[in-house]
Amino acid sequence: MEIRYALAVVTGAGGGLGREIAVALARRGAAVVCADRDRAAADETADLVRQRRVSGWSVACDVTEEADLRALGARALDLGGADVLVNNAGGWTPGEQYPAAPYDAWSRTLDLNLRAPMLLTQLFLADLERRRGPQRPAAVVNVSSSAALGAEGYGSPEYAAAKAGLVRLTTALGDPATAARARVMAVVPGWIGLPRAHEERAALPPADRPPLVPPEAVTRAVVQLVAYGRAGEVVELF
Ligand SMILES: NC(=O)c1ccc[n+]([C@@H]2O[C@H](COP(=O)([O-])OP(=O)(O)OC[C@H]3O[C@@H](n4cnc5c(N)ncnc54)[C@H](O)[C@@H]3O)[C@@H](O)[C@H]2O)c1
Repeated sequence: MEIRYALAVVTGAGGGLGREIAVALARRGAAVVCADRDRAAADETADLVRQRRVSGWSVACDVTEEADLRALGARALDLGGADVLVNNAGGWTPGEQYPAAPYDAWSRTLDLNLRAPMLLTQLFLADLERRRGPQRPAAVVNVSSSAALGAEGYGSPEYAAAKAGLVRLTTALGDPATAARARVMAVVPGWIGLPRAHEERAALPPADRPPLVPPEAVTRAVVQLVAYGRAGEVVELF
């Protein structure tokens, strides 16, 4: 699809990978709704978007709150309806992890990484059903993680399970009826070379330090998927 003049919604756009994705889409000519639970951070990203001479808006949205997600969907509709949705907000919940973690803590990780993208994608698909035919399938890119892959132990089982669920949700939505409305796709990055990862990696013993994926490699993959990706396509980046 043509990214120029498209309207994109990016969650968790206030920093980290989400900010990089918002700016990368703006560079390709998309107008971007920058959603983040941190309003000031979302404002900063919207400024960076507008510096690319495209429209940028910030929306305060905690994706674990159903009402916030519905308000975000309504805002996108007010702006004419989104053509691109990037479900980027995600992460693990600090503190004890499953099975030691209390229910509320691990449940929150599932809400953030799986239920939020599910609801936002549902709202997006319902909106597309109303406002356009199958000739221009829109794009959803889910940001998963390499935690979703493999058969060995992982320090945050709930994060791994949620991100694995997100990958399977993506492929399951590759059915023809959904694909006619939107191509739902995913990126599955290893550790991304964002400032926080550099710090966390430096704290590990040298032998345990994983390679870092350049943020530009992830944003390039997201932009490529939006432009040319197939429904159900999953891109692993290590
Ligand atoms: N950083 C990595 O190395 C890495 C690796 C693989 C996958 N990922 C995935 O990439 C995505 C982005 O990761 P990141 O490291 O850039 O994240 P981050 O922790 O740096 O957060 C980025 C932004 O998300 C916002 N955010 C957090 N919780 C939110 C919520 N509930 N609602 C709305 N906004 C919220 C934060 O305010 C922040 O502005 C996540 O889905 C993460 O799981 C990250």
